[in-house]
Amino acid sequence: MDNSVHRLQIIQSHLLARSSLTITDNRNGKTLEVPIKNGFVLGKDMGKLKNQEGENLMVYDPGYMQTVCCTSRISYIDGDKGILEYRGYPIEELAEKSSFLEVAFLLINGELPTKMQFEKWEHKILHHTYLHTDISRMMKNFHYDAHPMGVLVSTMSAMSTFQPEQNPALLPGMDPYKDTLLMNKQIYRIMGRIITVAAYAYRNRIGRPFNEPAQGLNYIENFLYMMDRLNEGNYKSHPKLVRALDVLFILHAEHELNCSTAAMRHLASSEVDVYTCIAGAAAALYGRKHGGANEAVLRMLEEIGSVSNIPSFLEKVKAGKGRLMGFGHRVYKNYDPRAIIVRKIADDVFSVCGKEPLIDIAMELERIALTDKYFIDRKLYPNVDFYTGVIYKSMGFPTDMFPVLFTIPRVAGWLAHWKEFHADPENKIVRPRQNYIGKRTRDYVPVDKRQKSDFFLSSVTSTRAKRREVN
Ligand code: CMC
Repeated sequence: MDNSVHRLQIIQSHLLARSSLTITDNRNGKTLEVPIKNGFVLGKDMGKLKNQEGENLMVYDPGYMQTVCCTSRISYIDGDKGILEYRGYPIEELAEKSSFLEVAFLLINGELPTKMQFEKWEHKILHHTYLHTDISRMMKNFHYDAHPMGVLVSTMSAMSTFQPEQNPALLPGMDPYKDTLLMNKQIYRIMGRIITVAAYAYRNRIGRPFNEPAQGLNYIENFLYMMDRLNEGNYKSHPKLVRALDVLFILHAEHELNCSTAAMRHLASSEVDVYTCIAGAAAALYGRKHGGANEAVLRMLEEIGSVSNIPSFLEKVKAGKGRLMGFGHRVYKNYDPRAIIVRKIADDVFSVCGKEPLIDIAMELERIALTDKYFIDRKLYPNVDFYTGVIYKSMGFPTDMFPVLFTIPRVAGWLAHWKEFHADPENKIVRPRQNYIGKRTRDYVPVDKRQKSDFFLSSVTSTRAKRREVN
């Protein structure tokens, strides 16, 4: 071996050996050496620092800004460089060459499928698109203007009650999620049914009968068929739009420990059944800081109304009155690589559906924001949601369906994490600790001796209650 290479290796191994923290606890003068592995220290090592009462030192970290809570092999993000990879494959390459169902296989099973594996995978998923008639009947009972995410969350949760054979709550002493066949069955069911639930939520909203899944159509075509077919015998969706949606689904399939995926793992840790986990993860996604951002972006663009209103809108944002939706990210401190691809898809969709006028406001908003000190200083760039709303609008989807279009593909990522969670013996029930600053050990006060508290006055008095008091 070359001498200089050998020297380099020795230096590297010395550096690795010194990869640790030496902490002096000034409360008692004790010193502790804590190893650093992959850029983090173990919580249990920090816990070796104890106070006089023997209590472990804790880490206060709202929003888990600095907390690593699991080991994963599913996706990799480098937020500074704007890199996203699924199982090691760059997102750009997958978006160009793959399909959503193939990517879902990759995420959930770890490798790209062979031709035969893919055929089986697609067949199994498409054969699980049918809903139990009691589920479809239940879905018809939602109010006509129910938000489709509310419908989706409730329906996925209800589905748990239809599959008792997989529900750990009903199987004392058994561990159903150690059974690969049983797990795969739930994966096929959830992947298959999510497009039907999404389409039915939409059909219910517009007061049209549900379309049963069709034979001979692929996953995306089937979804669009169930959404849009009226009574045409030869309904066929536009291939350019099918491909656009396929790519959008690839981009949304997985994004490591975002709020909803963290919720999925959180719920899985209590051993609740997978349908309830999916409902909980979808509920987390629904929020406008997460998967609801695409809907929020569109409502924001409509509210801005014209390019001339952008400067005053941005002044309000900078003054802390509202946010520029579709901008900013916890991990990306550079352009979100998905947003670059989404921007390109917009032109393909416009060539079929016509240009959505809101795109002009979005592009000008982006241009101004990217040259504004406020956004530059905070490293706020467009994220995946900034342009998707404009594309979905041009495709004719109603605004409240946008988070549903995010949820369908993200189910693949959630299931990948669910499977990974159950296979990892290091995982435990999630149980963070709190910084308790409330009152302690008080004597109970009988009701006739209690004072009306400020909290009750300020937060609970409703209009109705106020009217009652006046009367
Ligand atoms: N518009 C204006 N200011 C912002 C924005 C924004 N979109 N995002 C962050 N900031 C400011 C924030 O006010 C704060 O400023 P200061 O330091 O002066 O207090 C600073 O930037 C840091 O913000 P933060 O809220 O501490 O950052 P975070 O990492 O907790 O939040 C975020 C990340 C995505 C929730 C946030 O950027 C946001 O609310 N963006 C708008 C909603 C959105 O587009 N969400 C979609 C995220 S991508 C899709 C997904 O995976 O969910």
